[in-house]
Amino acid sequence: MTSLTSRTTWQALENHFGDLKNVHLRDLFANDPSRGTRLTLEAVGLYLDYSKNRVKDETIQLLLELAKDAGVSAKINAMFSGEKINITENRAVLHSALRAPRGSSIVVDGVNVVPEVHAVLDKMAAFADQIRSGAWLGFTGKRIKTIVNIGIGGSDLGPVMAYKALGFYSQRNLECRFVSNVDGTDFVEATRDLNPEETLFIVCSKTFTTLETMTNANSARAWCLKSLNDDAAVARHFVAVSTNALEVAKFGIDTNNMFGFWDWVGGRYSMDSAVGLSLMIAIGQDNFRQMLEGFHDMDTHFQTAPLEQNMPVLMALLGLWYNNFFDAQSLAVLPYDHYLTYFSAYLQQLDMESNGKHITLEGQTVDYQTGPVIWGQPGTNGQHAFYQLIHQGTKLIPCDFIGFMQSLNPLEPHHDILMANVFAQTQALAFGKTAEEVARDGIKPELIPHRAFDGNRPSNTLLAEKLTPHCLGALIALYEHKVFVQGAIWDINSFDQWGVELGKVLAQKIEPELSSETEPKLEHDSSTNALITKYRNSRK
Ligand code: F6P
Repeated sequence: MTSLTSRTTWQALENHFGDLKNVHLRDLFANDPSRGTRLTLEAVGLYLDYSKNRVKDETIQLLLELAKDAGVSAKINAMFSGEKINITENRAVLHSALRAPRGSSIVVDGVNVVPEVHAVLDKMAAFADQIRSGAWLGFTGKRIKTIVNIGIGGSDLGPVMAYKALGFYSQRNLECRFVSNVDGTDFVEATRDLNPEETLFIVCSKTFTTLETMTNANSARAWCLKSLNDDAAVARHFVAVSTNALEVAKFGIDTNNMFGFWDWVGGRYSMDSAVGLSLMIAIGQDNFRQMLEGFHDMDTHFQTAPLEQNMPVLMALLGLWYNNFFDAQSLAVLPYDHYLTYFSAYLQQLDMESNGKHITLEGQTVDYQTGPVIWGQPGTNGQHAFYQLIHQGTKLIPCDFIGFMQSLNPLEPHHDILMANVFAQTQALAFGKTAEEVARDGIKPELIPHRAFDGNRPSNTLLAEKLTPHCLGALIALYEHKVFVQGAIWDINSFDQWGVELGKVLAQKIEPELSSETEPKLEHDSSTNALITKYRNSRK
């Protein structure tokens, strides 16, 4: 296969970049009065304004040519039809099956998986109803008041993000907490004011072997049994979400209280599987199912819309344009909704664990940039922290702004102020303020360079009517598929994560070395030996 950078479609973009890199958004807008309405797209209740990107129509055409040349459409079909596109693990990639409507059919290894998906959803729904209604009682006959999800990575970030995002819809006499870090502080602080009789733990782990999760789960069991004093209590206070029934049973959780999923769901793509059990308990099955519909509607859009009107494809191509031609290193995701506090953190794993790769599907080292660093915080907090660098620093940081027409908590005049800031920020980034404009404000000449803004800093604006469960599902699926398209063009496997393994293996070797002052003799590099020795000495 011809390497990506030697394709004519890539080289055409390189040439075009030479022509475009010094063109200012001010001129692009001045020369095209309809740009702000023309370079927009609506899908599944999301409105994307991509006019404030450093692109001309020709840029979009060339990027679309690249996508076609890279076989994006065929790769989309391969994923949705259950081909084993995760080649290093020989697995299908079918998170889309998690939201496939009842009655549809997606076949993996000769089995239609949709009925299994719905069987688990129904089991989750029945359990969630029992917790929400108080029908499920703890070991001593008390109602469950707090649900503690123990998991990490995809078994934590999705549930915690969505629990916060859909907090408006949650049943307020129940609280979910999330323990992920192996730092004991996380568990101790999460449980310090809880009564074990009223607490349910969801041990959430695809593999059920993850060190952090199993350490926290063991501490949770000990914490529970210290008060309840009877192994039989575990069955009333622990349930599991996993693909590994054997390990779940070994831990002592009744496999009737296990909610399964499948190896064709990657951890970071699993929040709409049983991994979302805590969320379903919080918001109820109807809201959860509406979220799934949002995911599914975006899946359908992604699968069926032509590439030029395909929102995940366009967002992927715009991101690639900055990543590979402007050498931008990161993408800031800036949701202007307090409920989306953890959205950027969630996208960090989704994007960086998926596309943080440098080996192609054919096993070659890439000679181009792959996945960007994802970061961000909800507005307007970030404005008073890091936006300075985005506006006037030396780095080009493309931004995704996300806003909603209606607030779920319409407290006058907050929402207009919030949204005015979305529009103002994208405007300031794109158009800046010239030295002449600053001078016209009567600013002293020596201060003019400090107070001028170059502008020409690109952003997307995503608007939706209201942060509903459906909208959240659509938004997450949008980013899932965007990440997919970029990985498809970069010719990498977006669905494995071997890069996290080495650190895990080394930690397992080092951990027993910490408990003794002298044994075993340390045989690492001199830095690691010295650090371990210092730690050992402090334990004396
Ligand atoms: O170590 C990375 C990782 O495998 C993630 O991909 C995954 O989401 C996380 O660990 C947790 O894994 P598990 O759900 O198996 O505990």
